[in-house]
Amino acid sequence: MKRRETLRKRKLSQATIIIASYLISTASVQAIDWGSVQGKDVTLFYPGQASWEWVLTKSDHSGADKFKQGKNCKECHEREESDIGTKIVTGKKLEPDPIPGKSGSIKVNVKTAHDSEKFYVRFEWSETPQGDQPIMDKDFDSKITVMFDDGKVLAAKRAGCWGTCHDDAVNMASAPTGKEITKYLAQSRTKLGRSGGGENYKSPSELDQLLNEGIFMEFWQAKLNQGAEPVAVDGYILDKRHKNDNPLVDVQAEFNGGKWTVTMSRKLTVSEPHRKNIAAGQIYPVGFALHDNHTEHRYHYISLEHTFALDQGEADFIAVKK
Ligand code: HEC
Repeated sequence: MKRRETLRKRKLSQATIIIASYLISTASVQAIDWGSVQGKDVTLFYPGQASWEWVLTKSDHSGADKFKQGKNCKECHEREESDIGTKIVTGKKLEPDPIPGKSGSIKVNVKTAHDSEKFYVRFEWSETPQGDQPIMDKDFDSKITVMFDDGKVLAAKRAGCWGTCHDDAVNMASAPTGKEITKYLAQSRTKLGRSGGGENYKSPSELDQLLNEGIFMEFWQAKLNQGAEPVAVDGYILDKRHKNDNPLVDVQAEFNGGKWTVTMSRKLTVSEPHRKNIAAGQIYPVGFALHDNHTEHRYHYISLEHTFALDQGEADFIAVKK
């Protein structure tokens, strides 16, 4: 009887060890206890053809002068995002080709964290009504993107994604036929007009110089299909949208009960070129974009300009250590 009990005890303790080591190994995979991280709802809205040049033209946009004088987009438009989205998605303004029934905005819950080695950003959103929407991207149902800077690109700080969105980009009002212009920063061009900077590229050596100075935006993207492994993409934007051959960003995604949960993470410090290190003491301007329901290009939802910082600081998102 006694021996049996000891045997049972031993078995129990073996089981405990197995369970404990299992817990430790899952803990290292799922490093962050997201339940303990405070999230924030960000309203992403439908922008139509509201380009950087549109925003800066007084006869198009009455905020233009004040913006040029130093007032940022969010100072005028915070909490108006869903109204703006509805106005544009229904074609009242800035959208020549409205998608009937498409929602004008979507709320995405955003959380950030770090664990001294990696930075994490996590998104949670529920699917919105699709409307009578054509399939544009055949390969992916949804794409969520984060674009950020480390204080080098003034337009990113002042206007988030708008710093890269020009009137001659694909699908925008001044897009040239037969040429595909993607996102770019104004600094990459020798001149810009109402229709954007077109092909007025600076010389390769000038562009290299800008890259060395950190004048570019970095982006991370998760390409998603329900029930499939997500595809991670990262890259940078200066003269155009460059996709890195070997993404360093890691993506985890889950679709459950009509809701997506997507986590992106990357090492805080990396030596590969065209990336931004993430460190305490710096404020990072950031913008978010969601292409849902097989959309592409301008048919997405975007955020106004936001900021994140590690540990503490004057930022919308403080990535706490977990
Ligand atoms: C000084 C305040 C102010 C600033 C700064 C400002 N806007 Fe506006 N914006 C307005 C006003 C007022 C309207 C209303 C319609 C109009 O005059 O175009 C507007 C309209 C818009 C619209 C069209 C939707 C609508 O409701 O008519 C978009 C899109 C927009 N702004 C984007 C931006 C972006 C992006 C920025 C920053 C790059 C920005 N705005 C900066 C005041 C501002």
